[in-house]
Amino acid sequence: MSTADRTPTAAEYWENRYLEGGKTWSGNVNAALQREVGGVAPGTALDLGSGEGGDALWLARNGWSVTAVDIAPAALAIGAAAQQPGDDITWVAADLGAWHPPTTYDLVTACFLHSSVELPRDEILRRAAEAVAPGGLLLIVGHSGVPHWVDADAANHHHAAAEELPTPDEVLAVLFDDNPRLALSDWTVLTNGLIERPTVATDGSAATMVDGVLKLRRN
Ligand SMILES: C[S@@+](CC[C@H](N)C(=O)[O-])C[C@H]1O[C@@H](n2cnc3c(N)ncnc32)[C@H](O)[C@@H]1O
Repeated sequence: MSTADRTPTAAEYWENRYLEGGKTWSGNVNAALQREVGGVAPGTALDLGSGEGGDALWLARNGWSVTAVDIAPAALAIGAAAQQPGDDITWVAADLGAWHPPTTYDLVTACFLHSSVELPRDEILRRAAEAVAPGGLLLIVGHSGVPHWVDADAANHHHAAAEELPTPDEVLAVLFDDNPRLALSDWTVLTNGLIERPTVATDGSAATMVDGVLKLRRN
């Protein structure tokens, strides 16, 4: 069967999106990461589903030693091209469904790790928590809904269906309920909420998005 006759794999889907679409995201740090991590003493950081590296580049420029992982080499290449001397970033092309963090990190972040194709997100997030060093931070940021200016089909194509977007409380349950590998009592919940973020709609008008933000510290 040729690739045109079957559903693309996650690797094919994302690589083609970046190859066909060119630069896809703003290249800027996500507001939630900047707000939640700005001011934290830098150390080692793992950015899961880093895309074109907006977060990884910001972390590196704020002193972090960053490992940025994404399934799409084309996305990582855009980030690497923006890297400046002194930015300490290791770009790793890998499917997080199969990739296991090789060590622990002072910060593990997953911002908008959504996909309309196969993505074992729950297991990836559990592994993300396991990869946080004692005293380190876990930051999980997700969309809480589809913006009004994006039609539902397009949203499903680009991210995931609105009903599949978990709230921060649901992410907490994914991490700790019925999971013998992790215990909530070993963590301090620092942020758990739906937080508004100003943005610009496709017609140029001012708009608001709501991010689901979960930040935990491993005790
Ligand atoms: C919505 S984008 C978010 C990118 C970036 N974190 C940001 O906030 O701009 C989701 C990213 O997850 C990546 N991704 C999807 N499935 C993946 C997987 N199985 N393993 C690794 N990365 C994956 C995609 O390539 C894409 O770059």
